[in-house]
Amino acid sequence: MEFRPGVPLRRQLEGALRVAIRSGRLAPGSVLPPSRDLADEIGVSRGVVVDSYAQLATEGYLTAKRGSGTHVALLPASGRPPAPRKVRVPEHFRYDLRPGQADFHAFPRARWKASLVRALRELPDRRLGYANHLGVAELRNAVAGYLARGRGVVVEPEHVVICCATSQALTVLWQALRQQGGRRVAVEDPGWRWQRYTVEHAGLEAVPVRVDADGLVVSELAAADVDAVVMTPAHQYPTGVVMTAERRSALITWARERRALIVEDDYDVEYRFGREPVASLQGLAPDLVAFVGTTSKTLAPALRLAWMVPPSHLIDDVENMLLVTGVTPPTLDQMAMASFIEDAALERHLRSMRRRYRAKREVLVGALGTHLPEVRIGGAAAGLHLLAWLPDGTDEHETAMRARRSGVGVHELHRHCTTHASSSPALILGFALPSESELRTATALLAEAVA
Ligand SMILES: Cc1ncc(COP(=O)(O)O)c(C=O)c1O
Repeated sequence: MEFRPGVPLRRQLEGALRVAIRSGRLAPGSVLPPSRDLADEIGVSRGVVVDSYAQLATEGYLTAKRGSGTHVALLPASGRPPAPRKVRVPEHFRYDLRPGQADFHAFPRARWKASLVRALRELPDRRLGYANHLGVAELRNAVAGYLARGRGVVVEPEHVVICCATSQALTVLWQALRQQGGRRVAVEDPGWRWQRYTVEHAGLEAVPVRVDADGLVVSELAAADVDAVVMTPAHQYPTGVVMTAERRSALITWARERRALIVEDDYDVEYRFGREPVASLQGLAPDLVAFVGTTSKTLAPALRLAWMVPPSHLIDDVENMLLVTGVTPPTLDQMAMASFIEDAALERHLRSMRRRYRAKREVLVGALGTHLPEVRIGGAAAGLHLLAWLPDGTDEHETAMRARRSGVGVHELHRHCTTHASSSPALILGFALPSESELRTATALLAEAVA
């Protein structure tokens, strides 16, 4: 046996024996050489072998009986353990047009670093302890101002709750709803499938309700017999439809009569390429609407920072859920985000990203016109993706698979449909991440996949 310098001999011998036993090279029941013999053989003192045998006996790898020597024990999990496999970094598409991405190449690293460093430098020692599970005060105050300014949210800072993601916010809201006797939740169809998954995961029933050209079909909510609805009124995912004023007002009337909760998922409204974004639904009925926002589109999902403003009657239950689960974003990150917002770095970043995304959207729309004139484009007035309606009869899934095989990542519309699946095939194309020239090449490849 070869020993490495700098590591105690006993530890090295133990390690080698453990590996030999786990791999089956030393079979269960086999007898180990007496300590003196092994010590002579490998050139260590007898004490090293005795100590190693004793340690492995304590761990259950060996059994030692006076008079019958030291044996390899029968391990409870017999059989060879699988060879350890490293967790692999996921593969990337050469041209990644999957929705749900921001332009990560434009992440404001220097500015974010400055905010993080400042948080690390300025956070008082005692605040390294447990923080308020609703979020740190600085960030709740900053978010309240940001939402009031940008989204017309009616909010007291103490009603802002900081979360790790939209899906966590939804999960917590559903648990609170369930606590209050809720059972059924309407989800948009088509809609963001993770909304449905969070409903089901919380033990509630998800009830799909149709979306048409005016947004969620509110008249069908009454028949759905639900206690809540989760939706994307300002920019419906994935169709891109903006809910009309009439529907918004009908929705609020329905929720008030039914005493139902509306959960507004405001995931990408910071980006509109025409008129101003419609203000939040929450601003019209703060007592009925839980507003949920995220930094996944404005900055990056890697931050895992989102927020919600639940109606006041849910705050206590939301607080309890967060207290029990203990899932909150790290205090230092929250402090960094607070100064990032307070110093107007977020709003500056958004201004520059709007220009960048507008240009990319135009490139994609133009390239689709050139390479795929038969495709109809929908939902391109806002957000970071559009819908490419394929000619009737096209096999949506096969087309998406062909595109992926040629290096172009796309999503099929029907991934996000449940029962009222639209009959026409379509692909959801995100344009945030690829460069303009990548968008052009990707569209040419996509055209081959459609053909
Ligand atoms: C409708 C919708 N909501 C929310 C999100 C983002 O969620 P999270 O904050 O969990 O990253 C997405 C991401 O694609 C989305 O499509």
